[in-house]
Amino acid sequence: MTTAIRYFSKFGHSAAMADAIGQVTGAKPETVNVPVDTPVDTLYLGAGVMFGKINGAMADFIKTLSPDKVKRVVCFGSCAIIKSPVPQMRSLLEAQGVTVDGRSFTCRGSMGPLHAGHPDREDMDSLRAFIRTTL
Ligand SMILES: Cc1cc2nc3c(=O)[nH]c(=O)nc-3n(C[C@H](O)[C@H](O)[C@H](O)COP(=O)(O)O)c2cc1C
Repeated sequence: MTTAIRYFSKFGHSAAMADAIGQVTGAKPETVNVPVDTPVDTLYLGAGVMFGKINGAMADFIKTLSPDKVKRVVCFGSCAIIKSPVPQMRSLLEAQGVTVDGRSFTCRGSMGPLHAGHPDREDMDSLRAFIRTTL
């Protein structure tokens, strides 16, 4: 099974989460600046939100995806106020006709003093446990 990891990370939270996913899957985490050139079975895709939205670079990356390139996407993310960035990613992915796993992972991501320290060690352990269920 081929696996890829892509993320957009403004404050390093999705980057750290992508590293943890890399440890579990053995795949190399890359930013959304790196296109998916060869077909993959599973793409782990992650982001945070700023001012309520995922970054435009993530939206642009999703528009390069198609079902022949990616069999399944598993979304992950973090945020401080809204429930999750995942629904935004999911709707863009579904518009591309890409299959999105019903399961996803979201944890708190700090915004100044709000949820300071998150994602923390416990969040990362939960993420790794979740990823193992998706292998
Ligand atoms: C300037 C700023 C704006 C933010 N805006 C939001 C927001 O509107 N809603 C929210 O839930 N979280 C918001 N956050 C929290 C981020 O989504 C959170 O830090 C996330 O973990 C960032 O992930 P990243 O470092 O991978 O980009 C904001 C954080 C900062 C610093």
